[in-house]
Amino acid sequence: MTYAIEVQNLSKTFHAGAKALDNVSLQVADGEMVALLGASGSGKSTLLRHLAGFVAGDAGQGSVKVNGQQIQQNGRLSRNVRAARAGIGFVFQQFNLVGRLPVITNVLTGMLPRVPLWRSLTRWFLRGEVRQGLEALAQVGIDDYAFQRASTLSGGQQQRAAIARTLVQNARVILADEPIASLDPESSRRVMDTLAQINRSRKAAVVVSLHQVDVALRYCPRVVALRHGKVVYDGRAADLTPEMLRDLYGSELSELLPEYSSRAPAMPGLAPLSHLAQAA
Ligand SMILES: Nc1ncnc2c1ncn2[C@@H]1O[C@H](COP(=O)(O)OP(=O)(O)OP(=O)(O)O)[C@@H](O)[C@H]1O
Ligand SMILES: [Mg+2]
Repeated sequence: MTYAIEVQNLSKTFHAGAKALDNVSLQVADGEMVALLGASGSGKSTLLRHLAGFVAGDAGQGSVKVNGQQIQQNGRLSRNVRAARAGIGFVFQQFNLVGRLPVITNVLTGMLPRVPLWRSLTRWFLRGEVRQGLEALAQVGIDDYAFQRASTLSGGQQQRAAIARTLVQNARVILADEPIASLDPESSRRVMDTLAQINRSRKAAVVVSLHQVDVALRYCPRVVALRHGKVVYDGRAADLTPEMLRDLYGSELSELLPEYSSRAPAMPGLAPLSHLAQAA
């Protein structure tokens, strides 16, 4: 069986003695939606960046395959990493849109790996491509804003435009690094709903790092948790216990499960998670 994502024995040492990733192995099947949890500095962003082939792991060991294509091996990025990246959508906390360009142009840049160089340099898109971009914007619910400059959209709308970009990219794997960290609760809910919908309708594998534990558990059936760069939990979200969470986050926990420190739910319209109620 080929997996959407296959990681074997991946380590990354930035400073001697401190491993940002410590022998990480992990498989994600097509159509899975996985939350990546862990305290600040546990290695979530580092892992996602290695999966996307932005960085290579430690020399001499480790392998990352995405969509059956080798991204890196033994500390070297594959020669065809650019081509392999075409199937990976990356969603950043800060959206990474070009603010002065229209939303639709930003979305259509998702096609750039597939269009000829001269057209990508002139940002010339064919009518059918524009239609595809508009359809992607409609799917994430912001087609009304297609011809506005990206900078005029709210944070949540910009993030949905970034997700629409992964749709025109036809990404089979979506990696999202704290996509809701700078959003208000209502925008967060819409962005997470959008990711969940794409996961279901396109069977895209989604790996999303989140600081909000409650959000992770509601949207993602599976959780991978990191601590000091090691995978310390990989299993059903429903099986995470308060003890495991306390172990994972220590004193950070009450900040991460905000609804238990104040009575208000972290996201509107969502009931508290009773099985974790004593955790915070
Ligand atoms: N480019 C880099 N150079 C040196 N050290 C780095 C670099 N990137 C990450 N690190 C270190 O690797 C470790 C893991 O960092 P990483 O950013 O992956 O954590 P994280 O889980 O994403 O944290 P946060 O929740 O705060 O985003 C940290 O100790 C960090 O200081
Ligand atoms: Mg991070």
